[in-house]
Amino acid sequence: MSVTDRRLRRAARLAGLLGAASLLAAMVWWRRHPSACPYSQRFWLEPPHPLITRARLREILEPQLGERILEIGPGTGYYTLPIAEWIGPDGRLDILDLQQAMLDDTMSRARERGLQNITPTCADAQHLPYPDGTFDAVVLVTTLGEIPDQDAAWREMARVLKPTGRIVNGELFGDPHWVSPGAAELRATAAGLPSHRRLGTWAGYFGRHELGHIPKAAG
Ligand SMILES: C[S@@+](CC[C@H](N)C(=O)[O-])C[C@H]1O[C@@H](n2cnc3c(N)ncnc32)[C@H](O)[C@@H]1O
Repeated sequence: MSVTDRRLRRAARLAGLLGAASLLAAMVWWRRHPSACPYSQRFWLEPPHPLITRARLREILEPQLGERILEIGPGTGYYTLPIAEWIGPDGRLDILDLQQAMLDDTMSRARERGLQNITPTCADAQHLPYPDGTFDAVVLVTTLGEIPDQDAAWREMARVLKPTGRIVNGELFGDPHWVSPGAAELRATAAGLPSHRRLGTWAGYFGRHELGHIPKAAG
């Protein structure tokens, strides 16, 4: 191998290392500074979501016809449209997002599919604009970690839930704002929403929480 080839290889290795280090630094920064995924980066939300599939969400959420459900952080509606179909025309799906552009995008997709049971609201998950005990279920997927005060969000979700309601939170490892199952369960339990069931592994899971559900003792 010539001296030039060796230098080129060394330069390529160095560039690779610098790239990996910058990516790692960006991931750490994102985790320490929770913020909403900008609308300009919505391309992340388009491809099929591995592990946290729509079928798995349906299995753990157990949506019923006619229910009133809240989805926090719908993005461009990957889960929104199927949820609206599962609860049927007599059900009502409220979607709440910090970004009006995400809501507009989702609503335009819903219109294309002929769905008329979705109500959008631009607001912050830390201060939900709904009365106590409004919803049969609350759903949020790859959203919790973007919320600066997750404890406030859990308290608000508990407040707007009917006493018999459930919350389903979905997380995918690799998302810079991924929340581990343990961290989610600790915070949810502190808000009075202990874990009822989990589908999947730490790499991609849906956790279901219910008000006042007493988890089975270990052993
Ligand atoms: C990564 S996207 C997930 C979108 C969708 N759930 C999915 O999995 O395809 C997170 C969404 O949560 C919204 N979001 C972030 N922080 C929020 C907050 N504090 N209140 C309401 N929505 C928020 C973002 O605007 C974005 O639409």
